[in-house]
Amino acid sequence: MESRTFLSTFRKEVAVPEVEGEAKPSLGNWMPLHEADCIIKERFENCMKGRTMYLVPYVMGPIGSHMSRPGVELTDSAYVALSMGIMTRMGERAVGAMKCSEGTSSRLVKGLHCSGRPKDGKLAVPFWPCDPERTVIVHKIEQDEIFSYGSGYGGNSLLAKKCHALRLGSYQAKCEGWLAEHMLIMGVEPECGCGRKHYLTAAFPSACGKTNLAMMKPAVAGYKVSTVGDDIAWIHFNRTTGKLHAINPEYGMFGVAPGTSWKTNPNAMATFMKNAMFTNVALTDDGGVWWEGMEEPCKGVKVTDWHGKPWDKLNAKTPAAHGNSRFTCPIYQCPSLDKDWENCDGVPVSGIIFGGRRPHGMPLVYEALSWNHGVLVGSFVKSEATAAAEHKGGTMMHDPFAMRPFYGYNAGHYLQHWLDIGCTPGLKQPKIFHVNWFLRNKEGGFAWPGYGENIRVLEWMLRRIEGDDTVAEETPIGYVPKEGAINMEGLDPKPDHDHLFKFDKEFWLKEVGVLVPGQETTDPTYYAMFQTVLSLLSRWKNPRN
Ligand code: GTP
Ligand code: MN
Ligand code: MN
Repeated sequence: MESRTFLSTFRKEVAVPEVEGEAKPSLGNWMPLHEADCIIKERFENCMKGRTMYLVPYVMGPIGSHMSRPGVELTDSAYVALSMGIMTRMGERAVGAMKCSEGTSSRLVKGLHCSGRPKDGKLAVPFWPCDPERTVIVHKIEQDEIFSYGSGYGGNSLLAKKCHALRLGSYQAKCEGWLAEHMLIMGVEPECGCGRKHYLTAAFPSACGKTNLAMMKPAVAGYKVSTVGDDIAWIHFNRTTGKLHAINPEYGMFGVAPGTSWKTNPNAMATFMKNAMFTNVALTDDGGVWWEGMEEPCKGVKVTDWHGKPWDKLNAKTPAAHGNSRFTCPIYQCPSLDKDWENCDGVPVSGIIFGGRRPHGMPLVYEALSWNHGVLVGSFVKSEATAAAEHKGGTMMHDPFAMRPFYGYNAGHYLQHWLDIGCTPGLKQPKIFHVNWFLRNKEGGFAWPGYGENIRVLEWMLRRIEGDDTVAEETPIGYVPKEGAINMEGLDPKPDHDHLFKFDKEFWLKEVGVLVPGQETTDPTYYAMFQTVLSLLSRWKNPRN
């Protein structure tokens, strides 16, 4: 619930970009501290009366890693307590880790969550208490405090995830010189052992394919993919290797259910076969769960939809599962788990990928010319709205770095921070790519088969990372694959190289229209943000930067 989510600081400028003449910033909501205190007091007084209180200590990241950070959540929801047990390293070992790090600089995040109780005391849905009218999620980023009232949805209630690992995390990261990002982490290596293994991170907006890519089963023989994380990456510069190193602060997966099947994502299916929880999915009367896109239930099996009503495919007017229904399961059950997923030093990052749902104009893949150009590419990310957020489906949303809902501080300062990281002395910069699995063809279908076939694109990235100059050509937007450089063998129908990679000047002029000074723009915040980037980029001597 982006519109109910606030950053609260003494100075507004710390939290959100301030734009002259714009009343409400479009990158985050800010609330003064005294207002936050009023709202918290008004909602939290007596709110848990008669309910069970759960105290949940947790650590984000491998226990013992200097990159990990501790937190505590107080909640009145059993669902939250159980989910936190799957999604984080929770309980005694977390307390043990906190005792060990006592007296160190490690900041403890304090989260308070209440499911909510409507003013009249009546619960509309008796088995799922909430208070949609007064829902609010407040982050006091300078105090490491989170207050969440009225919603049980994962992103609003499992405070370790989006609230801690991304919002407070990104602010801590800015203060301490690292990055907290909405990114998967995966390893890719040639099966023959004849080449080196590389780790990639990727930032796509919600419901745009992170979990799928992180657990991908390659459709082409010859490569092995391994999973470190599917949603969040904490990234630090490592002096020994000179590379950026990433850890997955989480311990479980909270994945989009619809569309997940043995065909599209067998590794996810295998991961949630035990110790898993499902929210807003349909139930089958043989004790299973079901959602759209899963293999058809066996003949004669009765389905109950996510509202608890009988459902049959032939007569149904609504889907059986909510479009944003989710599975929650321990990541260590994942068959493609990387051997270094809990390495206290993280894994070295060779490439960073950005992407979104772009039906037209955006090529299947291109590579930024430099780190700074890559930062610009990240700030460009746009995507069609999906069921994961409260926006209308189908509208094109700007979502810089796939972080729009998760910025923990001023998005302009965030860009500055990314540029600064690129200047770290001794840093071997990773390459930065942009992908679009969702390009449409003339008939309106997907122009690229996606899923396991995406390995063909990763293979090209690996060749670029290893320094192969023969497979790319420079275009006005960056490097794209030369014809024949991406293995299309065995694809039926054979994708049209021109359609996947042609440089569409009209499209790009529109795309960068916001960058032309003086030109009409519909969104002053982005305009201000891009102007900041432009002025920062003008400092660089190399014209390519
Ligand atoms: P959050 O967990 O909300 O941050 O989202 P996510 O980025 O992990 O998204 P996820 O991997 O769960 O993908 C969600 C949707 O994207 C599903 O409907 C998938 O079927 C679809 N999807 C994923 N990968 C591909 C792909 O390569 N091609 C196409 N066409 N669809 C894909
Ligand atoms: Mn996410
Ligand atoms: Mn996901």
